[in-house]
Amino acid sequence: MRSQIVGTGSYAPEKVVTNADLEKIVDTNDQWIVERTGIRERRVIAEGEATSDLAVRACQRALEQAKLDPKDVEAIIVGTVTSDYPFPSLATVLQGKLGNKKAFAFDVSAACAGSIYAMAVGDRFVSSGAVKNALIVGADALTRICDWTDRNTCILFGDGAGAMVLRPTSDARRGIANIRLHADGSYVPILFQPGGGSKDPISERVVREKSHFIKMKGQEVFKVAVRSLEETCREVLEAEKLTPGDVTYVIAHQANKRILDATLSRLGIPAQKCWMNLERYGNTSAASVPMTLDEANRAGWFKPGDTILVMAIGGGLAWGAGIIRW
Ligand code: UT7
Repeated sequence: MRSQIVGTGSYAPEKVVTNADLEKIVDTNDQWIVERTGIRERRVIAEGEATSDLAVRACQRALEQAKLDPKDVEAIIVGTVTSDYPFPSLATVLQGKLGNKKAFAFDVSAACAGSIYAMAVGDRFVSSGAVKNALIVGADALTRICDWTDRNTCILFGDGAGAMVLRPTSDARRGIANIRLHADGSYVPILFQPGGGSKDPISERVVREKSHFIKMKGQEVFKVAVRSLEETCREVLEAEKLTPGDVTYVIAHQANKRILDATLSRLGIPAQKCWMNLERYGNTSAASVPMTLDEANRAGWFKPGDTILVMAIGGGLAWGAGIIRW
């Protein structure tokens, strides 16, 4: 048995912050941001809004497409690092908002790779027959943990949510064929939120020193990202006895256009095969992959049997790549 994606949905908050808006806050300019990242604007969560408010809308759209009543969902697995509360999980908050009592619900913490990790976990539950369906979500509001005075990071991130519904299929030509996950904890210090956790709990000093915001060594992340994504894409393609030429479409975490261009060019996959929305949303962390998948799906990109290569990398570092047969 395999698990098949039978519904996708996404949602981004209404407020748009353009590169021109950022020029007024930090020492940056539209040309630099577009040339170095590909981002033109991003969406930012409103005051009083929480990550679950974005996630619930994405879930409703995915469930509607899958023709699945929210009450009948059996598993809710959410990739996020910006849950509404430090605990409990965003997945349980979401379950409550969906009016569901049946599902078990938990979060997966793998930063920008959160949704590919969540997809891999959900796939195991569905393909083993443990559950009849699973709601897989990627949702983050990284702008809540961004230092809006740090031009190295605040230009990159945006908020959003994406969701997909998995159901079992006995058709061996369709569904999630394979997902390979990796992590390397020696890279924790190049992309993390140093303060506000158990190591250095929130305090006046933490806030004053701004250590509760994202810290990133961008160039180092960039180099590891290109190398790791290429390696893991090759690994999963080989495991499925495929070559890069067999890939119909690519759905990739939207972190930086240059990271994606470099990875695709190393793999020999034309950039046109990769759905891009980075210019409109920036890096939405765990939301990125399911939001991108939903846009491409609703635009009618995928036909039954298409081979879709999925990839993501983020803080940890944690990363993964997968093959989906649509
Ligand atoms: O999901 C994973 C999350 N993270 C990532 O994917 C991040 C991966 N890394 C990147 O995307 C890129 O490294 C960045 C976009 C963050 C930075 O691009 P870069 O080409 O690596 O630039 P850089 O850090 O080497 O900086 C080049 C110059 C520096 O000035 P000097 O030292 O050459 O005078 C920076 O101070 O650009 C300067 N700079 C900026 N200038 C205008 C850095 N940020 C900005 C800015 N506006 N926002």
